[in-house]
Amino acid sequence: MDLAERFVKNHKLADREEYRELLKQSEDKEVAEYLRREAVSLRKQYYGNKVYIRGLIEFTNYCKNNCYYCGIRRGSYRAVRYRLTREEILDCVKKGWTMGFRTFVLQGGEDPYLTDQWMADLIRSIKELCPDCAVTLSIGERSLDSYRRLREAGADRYLLRHETADEKHYRCLHPEEMRLSVRKQCLRDLKSLGYQTGAGFMVGSPGQTYRELAEDLRFLQELQPEMAGLGPFLPHQDTRFAEEKAGSLELTVRLLSIVRILLPAVLLPATTALATLDPAGREKGLAAGANVVMPNLSPLKNRKQYMLYDNKCCTGAESAEGLSKLAKSLEELGYELSMERGDYPFPIGTLFTDPI
Ligand code: 5AD
Repeated sequence: MDLAERFVKNHKLADREEYRELLKQSEDKEVAEYLRREAVSLRKQYYGNKVYIRGLIEFTNYCKNNCYYCGIRRGSYRAVRYRLTREEILDCVKKGWTMGFRTFVLQGGEDPYLTDQWMADLIRSIKELCPDCAVTLSIGERSLDSYRRLREAGADRYLLRHETADEKHYRCLHPEEMRLSVRKQCLRDLKSLGYQTGAGFMVGSPGQTYRELAEDLRFLQELQPEMAGLGPFLPHQDTRFAEEKAGSLELTVRLLSIVRILLPAVLLPATTALATLDPAGREKGLAAGANVVMPNLSPLKNRKQYMLYDNKCCTGAESAEGLSKLAKSLEELGYELSMERGDYPFPIGTLFTDPI
């Protein structure tokens, strides 16, 4: 327990080896439960019982990258490609706005059609439609200059999972033309421009052990992102990883608790991948310290086309249509569904390096 207690006290560990040891020790039920309780208590301290709701708009599945695990990678020739028009996106926003959504997450592949001008116009139109909403982008790696233009157009937040912080492991998951160093630099650029920035990784991706996960945690400690996205790896039938095992629910929720303790005020979603892995995944994620849910606001006709992995959930409580059901089930568990913007509650750049 010593190591877990020290982690809870300091919100960090000394090095990669200590994170690896923590992961190992948290296999013990008692240690895992201790971390879970501490995580929930930290979430309570910063956010009470609130669970923030974000409207996810998956607006293009064209992608110039070829990440080996991903169902919409460039080489996935069976993927049926789509790109929403500006009007379709604005319709999703209007629909979401009427339902009460105040954060819109624009997510897409790295689609060369998304020029700075096109994105900036879109962001400005959204902000005109609903001036008090937050716009979160999740459109991959771009230049500092591009990130700056989109920020100037009004984008508030940016999600860019690093996927894995270990060089060797990064090479198992990505083709030669992609670079972990570029990814990391993008994250630093985003932070430097004042975006609320989200990093994150898949749990149980092929080739991943505690060694790699320990590096992910160390990297999060260094970056201090305002948001963190982690969900289980799930195989996609048209990828080289089709026959690989899915990431484990138990390990994913353990990591959610650890990330909550590492970054006490982080905005941490119970991801769609977790809900896809297990019918009670979302609830288990929240019970481990997550505090965000991102229902799908994309047009129904396109939802099946944004298949990052097999059987991706996009209806029921995973969808905007299921919002009242989601609210009810969350309330029954003692949470309060919040449609507020729910910004990171501290100035961007605040470090939790000292014991709180
Ligand atoms: N399993 C789980 N998550 C995946 N993602 C992409 N492919 C998969 C997969 N097969 C995740 C990546 C990406 C996010 C949008 O979806 O982490 O950052």
